[in-house]
Amino acid sequence: MSTNPPVDLNYERFRQLRMRLDMSRGKPAPEQLDLSQGLFGAAPDGGYRARDGFDCRNYGLASGLPEARELGAGLLGVPAAQVIAGGNSSLELMHDALAFALLHGVPAGDSSEERGLPWRAQGEIAFLCPAPGYDRHFAICEALGVRMIAVPMREDGPDMDAVEALVRADATVKGMWCMPLYSNPTGAIYADEVVRRLAAMPAAAPDFRLFWDDAYRFHHLTGERHATLDVIEACAAAGHAERVLMFASLSKVTFAGAALAWLAASPRNVAWWQRCAAVRTIGPDKLNQLRHVRFVRDRATLEALMARHRALLAPKFAAVDEVFRARLSAVPQVRWNVPRGDYFISLYAPPGCARRTVELAGEAGLVLTPAGAAFPYGVDPEDSHLRIAPSFPALEEVRLAAEGIAVSLLRALEERAMNAE
Ligand SMILES: Cc1ncc(COP(=O)(O)O)c(C=O)c1O
Repeated sequence: MSTNPPVDLNYERFRQLRMRLDMSRGKPAPEQLDLSQGLFGAAPDGGYRARDGFDCRNYGLASGLPEARELGAGLLGVPAAQVIAGGNSSLELMHDALAFALLHGVPAGDSSEERGLPWRAQGEIAFLCPAPGYDRHFAICEALGVRMIAVPMREDGPDMDAVEALVRADATVKGMWCMPLYSNPTGAIYADEVVRRLAAMPAAAPDFRLFWDDAYRFHHLTGERHATLDVIEACAAAGHAERVLMFASLSKVTFAGAALAWLAASPRNVAWWQRCAAVRTIGPDKLNQLRHVRFVRDRATLEALMARHRALLAPKFAAVDEVFRARLSAVPQVRWNVPRGDYFISLYAPPGCARRTVELAGEAGLVLTPAGAAFPYGVDPEDSHLRIAPSFPALEEVRLAAEGIAVSLLRALEERAMNAE
């Protein structure tokens, strides 16, 4: 089956191609996973002892292997004592942090022992959700009964006037989702001033927390390695040392779902986490941590690996942009971003057309993320946003899928024009 799109492709012809393409989730492609095959040999038979001789096959080290915490410390710019090396998923750490806060409360006030009431004992609580955002963050809130308040997302981070007003006025607002670098799915990069304002803003809730999901910290799509301001330092400098919980992982550096995740925070927050998590597990998979310490090693090795990911990913993002420029640039009210990092492109259709575009694409064999997924409760008030994930399919398939998205959108517009007549 040739995947070269005909020059005169339209929706009907795209449908006739009977493609089966999936652009719905931001998964690494098999060739990206191949880059980390070396992991399998990184803790071979007999190679299971940690630096100090600890036998990684056994229980223990609930906060992670010391060298795995140090690796995280080096990559995240936080002292190792403030880093927990967890299991395979940062999302799991975020889920558990929210569950622990609901069940047990989080440190509040000045004394090291003082803890706020469990969030579930404080009536209805809410999280601010910059939108478009990450659907799995919103799913955690929904599953745990946390009300979501959408705030607009801009190119340099969330609308800080809206955030400050809500956090200052409403003590039920206990937290906020933040993806500071290459935010999923808009690619926003938080400006230094946004980070400073988040760190310093007065909060009605004394136990307010920023859930700082630094998932794309290492995932540059251009030659420029963007970085955001150190939020742990900014919070401490603003007198709110406990305000932030930072999460990151190597999921899209080595193996997605089989890597290593970190939580980093103030010493009090780390002690809180250790108390709560001790009940949940006797320790993480230290053999996998050992493999990662040996394979990823340090920042320079990680950056070399990420450059190889970029070489595979960047052409796919460029292909989508190229197709959209050819097919959609003259269409009023259509725009998209050209991300500098992460795994997604946000395409904005004219209001009222996103859902129908996804439907039409689906009918032609192209699975897209459901329209509205990037908004709390799955509702995009404008019905305009489409999240496109070009990482997994092969390059020619990505190009064809981009064509399919464009012709589906154009067909949705034709239908709307016909209905208006
Ligand atoms: C913003 C964001 N956070 C977290 C994750 C999942 O990370 P992990 O594999 O560490 O659970 C993803 C995966 O797509 C993501 O986009």
